[in-house]
Amino acid sequence: MASLLGYCRAGYENDLAEELTVKASALQCFGYPKFERGSGYVQFVCYNDTDADTLGQKLPVIDTVFARQLVVITDELNDLSREDRLSPVLDAILKHDDESVQNGLLQVEHADTDAGKDLAKFCRKFAVVLRQALRKNRALTFKEKKHARALHVFFTDFDECLVGYSYAQCRSPHANGIFRLKFPSAAPSRSTLKLEEAILSMLSAKQQQQVLRAGGRAVDLGACPGGWTYQLVQREMFVEAIDNGLIADNLMATGLVEHFAADGFNYKPQFGRVDLLVCDMIERPDRVAKLMGDWLVNHWADHAIFNLKLPMKKRYETVTLAMADVLARLQKLDDSFVIRMRHLYHDRDEITVSILRE
Ligand SMILES: C[S@@+](CC[C@H](N)C(=O)[O-])C[C@H]1O[C@@H](n2cnc3c(N)ncnc32)[C@H](O)[C@@H]1O
Repeated sequence: MASLLGYCRAGYENDLAEELTVKASALQCFGYPKFERGSGYVQFVCYNDTDADTLGQKLPVIDTVFARQLVVITDELNDLSREDRLSPVLDAILKHDDESVQNGLLQVEHADTDAGKDLAKFCRKFAVVLRQALRKNRALTFKEKKHARALHVFFTDFDECLVGYSYAQCRSPHANGIFRLKFPSAAPSRSTLKLEEAILSMLSAKQQQQVLRAGGRAVDLGACPGGWTYQLVQREMFVEAIDNGLIADNLMATGLVEHFAADGFNYKPQFGRVDLLVCDMIERPDRVAKLMGDWLVNHWADHAIFNLKLPMKKRYETVTLAMADVLARLQKLDDSFVIRMRHLYHDRDEITVSILRE
């Protein structure tokens, strides 16, 4: 049976399984999730083979919370011989090859787990030989085409893999669905990478220019030691940094940052409003979501990017419940909003939400 494969952070399989079940049924596609805890992936097995393809075309990974990548799986290969893995994988791809569809990319991937990382070197080598063989058989374009369908081979062990494809409009552009970033040495905390990934992966280039414009104003709630403020200052924004702790000296020295030792739940912007509110306070997700709603509804901020810290269990349900109230309040306004919720690669037990006013 065809399935939709979702990659996720190890330990989040249950949350992704729940989410895929809800989102597939909203698209009238039915099936059941299959996963092993800690494996870093979930297969949503469809009762109807065409449903997996429908999900592959209609469920963008960016519209999910817990998926890093989504792939339509056509074959599961087990007991691959270590002498010749190429032939069965190639046969599986060619068997499903539809000449009307052009494959412009190949990804040979593995889960983001310790076991998966052991496969990384092998995957890289296998990609080279498979790419050559596919091109020889006219099943892959000679030049990479980022806007064409991509072939995926996902190794779950040295002798097991899942074979499938993804559509350009729905997939993550990154190998293994992981957006890797280099830590900027002048940033005061690794948290900076969470906001950088959020900006680069959740906002279009145009939205980045509008929301984070040079000379614009931002509030950073729970700002210390300043990793998120660093991202805003890099974009030449003026920042009101709210926290009882200390902000790194190099940020204060820019003259763009004002530090207020205040409670983020009571703070109001110095000039009545800001372009962007960011918030990384460690607090209950429903409290943070409500606070973000207050700022947006009252026009204290045009846009918001924030983290919701997640509990150990029922994380999908917690996110849905925490966001339900703010979504209902925003819907009553005349403005429209683009809302994304993502469990980013640089997030830990938290998700990042962006709410942009259009
Ligand atoms: C995860 S850290 C923020 C890290 C920061 N985003 C960075 O990149 O460096 C959470 C911060 O929230 C602050 N915090 C927690 N509750 C707060 C509140 N009610 N008001 C203001 N700050 C708060 C803590 O003092 C802590 O510095």
